[in-house]
Amino acid sequence: MDLFDSLPIEEAGLTAEQEIKALREELAEQNYKYYVLSAPTMSDREFDEKMHRLQELEAAHPEMYDPESPTQKVGSDIVESQKSKVESSEGFARIRHRYPMLSLANTYSREEVEDWVRKLPANVEIVAELKYDGLSISLWYENGKLVHAVTRGDGTEGDDVLPNIKTITSIPQTLTNTPKRLELRGEVLLPWERFEALNKQREEQEEPLFANPRNAASGTLKLQDSKEVARRGLTCYLYYMLGEHLPGKTHYERLELARKWGFPVSDAIKVCKNVDEVMAFIAYWDMERKNLPVATDGIVLKVNDLAEQEELGYTAKSPRWAIAYKFAAERQLTLLKQITYQVGRTGVVTPVANLEPVQLSGTMVQRATLHNEDFIRQLGIQEGDKVYVEKGGEIIPKIVEREKSKDRLVDSKPYIFPEVCPECGTTLVRVEGEAAWRCPNEVSCPPQLKGKLEHFVSRKAMNIEGLGSETIGMLYENGLLHSIADIYSLKQEDLAAQERLGEKSAQNILQAIEGSKQVPWARVLFALGIRMVGETTAKKIAKRFRSIDALQWASKDELMGIEDVGEQIADNIVAYFADIRNLEIITRLQAAGLQMADVSNQQSAVSVPQVLAGKTIVISGTFTHHSRDEYKQMIEDYGGKNSGSVSKKTDFILAGENMGPSKLEKAQSLGVRLMNEQEFLKVLKGEN
Ligand code: IVH
Repeated sequence: MDLFDSLPIEEAGLTAEQEIKALREELAEQNYKYYVLSAPTMSDREFDEKMHRLQELEAAHPEMYDPESPTQKVGSDIVESQKSKVESSEGFARIRHRYPMLSLANTYSREEVEDWVRKLPANVEIVAELKYDGLSISLWYENGKLVHAVTRGDGTEGDDVLPNIKTITSIPQTLTNTPKRLELRGEVLLPWERFEALNKQREEQEEPLFANPRNAASGTLKLQDSKEVARRGLTCYLYYMLGEHLPGKTHYERLELARKWGFPVSDAIKVCKNVDEVMAFIAYWDMERKNLPVATDGIVLKVNDLAEQEELGYTAKSPRWAIAYKFAAERQLTLLKQITYQVGRTGVVTPVANLEPVQLSGTMVQRATLHNEDFIRQLGIQEGDKVYVEKGGEIIPKIVEREKSKDRLVDSKPYIFPEVCPECGTTLVRVEGEAAWRCPNEVSCPPQLKGKLEHFVSRKAMNIEGLGSETIGMLYENGLLHSIADIYSLKQEDLAAQERLGEKSAQNILQAIEGSKQVPWARVLFALGIRMVGETTAKKIAKRFRSIDALQWASKDELMGIEDVGEQIADNIVAYFADIRNLEIITRLQAAGLQMADVSNQQSAVSVPQVLAGKTIVISGTFTHHSRDEYKQMIEDYGGKNSGSVSKKTDFILAGENMGPSKLEKAQSLGVRLMNEQEFLKVLKGEN
């Protein structure tokens, strides 16, 4: 019998080849959503089941082997490569792990745990530990000194985040009487309390919130500013010791030794003699973990005897001597009372489930996102249904399933997505290939207009300080802002009459508005908020079309001739200028005196003194007067060379706030001068 014959019947009439391809695509997408967007649309369990199915199919079809398949990668592998597209780990040295950092096979039931135990040699001792839900870290000690702290990265190579790890006071930085070379592995976490405080602060500062403590810990570990890392208060538990000729014959002995040497090792560890003891440990911590200061998502079981571990060995992805048992996410049955809609700043219409309030993991849940129309159809739900809500590692609860045994009420209606925008009544559109329905009324749909206003005044756009989103919201509600052009018609008395704004802040706002008239053309173009025209694209467009008058007559083909401008962006630009309401706004902005044309380059070609000629300059940190890219351009205009890394050839570093720790260290060791923004601007003016 062919091995394939023993596998479950092919899904929905797909061939094995089609199913493998579909699963690879689906799992890769889920990895991206989970790790990069922090917005998974599949439960961990479903993910593992699909992964298992893919593994089975691939085993039966070795001819379909693909090193890029999600089955061939260690968890964060794909992820790290995808992540690098959105956030760079710039500033950290990459280090190759001495021993690869693997993941663990997951189990979800007593049966699966029993299965695993049964396959082990008889009477083995099993160490049960908590599975901490943070980020794995590898600490390298040489001659008793902590020399590297390496993230998992792709399992083979990670980032050395030592300065940030040094902020965790429970981790010893020096050891005495320990082996020459020692490696400890563990989990870095942001305690619940710190996580909540951080998100509260981010909410106040209108920064995006972290979905869970794991993401917050990950974001924190990647910061270039160790002082900020210290303020956030990371913590750590170590659960694995590696090295040659280490004392101890069992995993447990080694952990106790690590504890004796001063490492933070959890107390929640038990050497179990049989499955019942393992199950008792699981049952106890499934309840008790709610009282822990940090997030946990399961239990890790490890064969205690190190010789037995070695004998059992490893698969390509994980050790055979250990598994994880994942706690089931808490779920509750409740009534889906109504589906309402939220229109976002980009016009995306998101359906929201309004639920009969229900207690879930200590909080009252009454709303849950339904993402988009497809998500609702996949769940097969409609108003009046009984649904299960789950809260896993994510803070945001989600609907996972309809309770099908409950009859629907006779008058319950099948679900239909609305045809018009619930905010402004405009007919919705669905772009091909996108899951979302969108309101196309960018100009006057209230949430979109507010979004446009906020974008316009933001730091990288017109940089109008004092006009935060609350003030914008208030001015909008009070009828003072109907478009971005209205900002330039605001009067002292209008502003001062607003609640929470006195004479002084009104004056400051007007001053900032006045100052924005000096913002260069490329940034004005970015500030207009044409869909998909980001900061960099705006710069490229502004270089090719040096005034708004030239740009508004540009053809689609001409626009597509610009680097980074594809068909969609070109269409968006053409559509923007075809809308008479936008043309009116532009006329008013021009009349207000904004920079709608570029004069700087012509000037620089003839008159900028080459005061930086022959100088190699590195830029690091964040700035207040100009953006990083503007400084890069200025260095070139004034005859200098901008370089990405500090070396002996560096003449000086243009150092902003929060300079990267590794650049700072290198600069100090090479004795390279740091110049702040003010000093640099003086140099350009020839004052230094
Ligand atoms: S042992 C070779 N023990 O879970 C096995 N891992 O998918 C090394 N984790 O990446 C891991 N708590 O970050 C181990 N008590 C614990 C753990 C633990 C959390 C994480 C770890 C690893 C992931 C496994």
